[in-house]
Amino acid sequence: MIAGDDPLGWDTTAAADAYRDRDMRLAEKLIFPAVLRRLGRSPGPDRLVLDVGCGTGAITARLAGAGEWTVQALDPSADMLDIARADRPHPRVSYRLFDGRTLPWLADDSVDGAVCGLVYCTDPDDDRLAALTAEIHRVLRPGTPYLLADLNPAATGVGFSTLRHGEPGALYTDGDTVPTRLRLRDGTTMTSATHYRSLDRYRSFLTEAGFPAPTVDLPTLPVDGPAQDAPAETRTAPYMILTTRA
Ligand SMILES: C[S@@+](CC[C@H](N)C(=O)[O-])C[C@H]1O[C@@H](n2cnc3c(N)ncnc32)[C@H](O)[C@@H]1O
Repeated sequence: MIAGDDPLGWDTTAAADAYRDRDMRLAEKLIFPAVLRRLGRSPGPDRLVLDVGCGTGAITARLAGAGEWTVQALDPSADMLDIARADRPHPRVSYRLFDGRTLPWLADDSVDGAVCGLVYCTDPDDDRLAALTAEIHRVLRPGTPYLLADLNPAATGVGFSTLRHGEPGALYTDGDTVPTRLRLRDGTTMTSATHYRSLDRYRSFLTEAGFPAPTVDLPTLPVDGPAQDAPAETRTAPYMILTTRA
């Protein structure tokens, strides 16, 4: 994949391959169950949920499987979508390349839920994310949920067992680029860049798009063993899950 083939002009080949190999244990315990719990199982056949920024399809697979939703899984990276289609096909899932900003094929009030996991932290462009949030609000039926899961901005610099976003002791403000280290399944690490936004900034993306202020979940893991050996994710939430409704 050359950079010009992706709608955002990013070359995502290496990132997509590395992302396929990441250690997903924390996300599997702390993000995916909370998203499914908050969203609930599909209330009926053919109920449509969007997985916006689906990447390699990890959340998509759970929404279609245990959640029994029909899923449109959208991403601006053709490389991520290639992996998702190969690794996580499902009869109720359609994967679709889009521009990360607009949803012109979807009518107003035509979607029953939307999920967006670890996307805002990867996109440096506030204007694009504001437009995307407004589009998600436009296509959701009134009263249906939008779940936005992302890195917890209050946890920069904390060394979790599978990731660390930010340097220990460093302070970040809105718009800063944050070095982010991810553990891969073979025990090696990769470093990439994420983009810091405060919780207030996330709230304003939502309220400026027309959503009410979200509820905020900050899940941690229970302590399992001697307290002095407990990993950081038993004390501090690596991720946050914001829930609001159109
Ligand atoms: C860290 S991955 C997360 C993938 C998946 N949601 C998950 O939780 O496993 C971030 C994804 O967001 C996508 N992305 C970046 N900017 C986006 C935007 N403006 N709209 C939608 N997706 C975007 C990237 O291409 C990438 O696939």
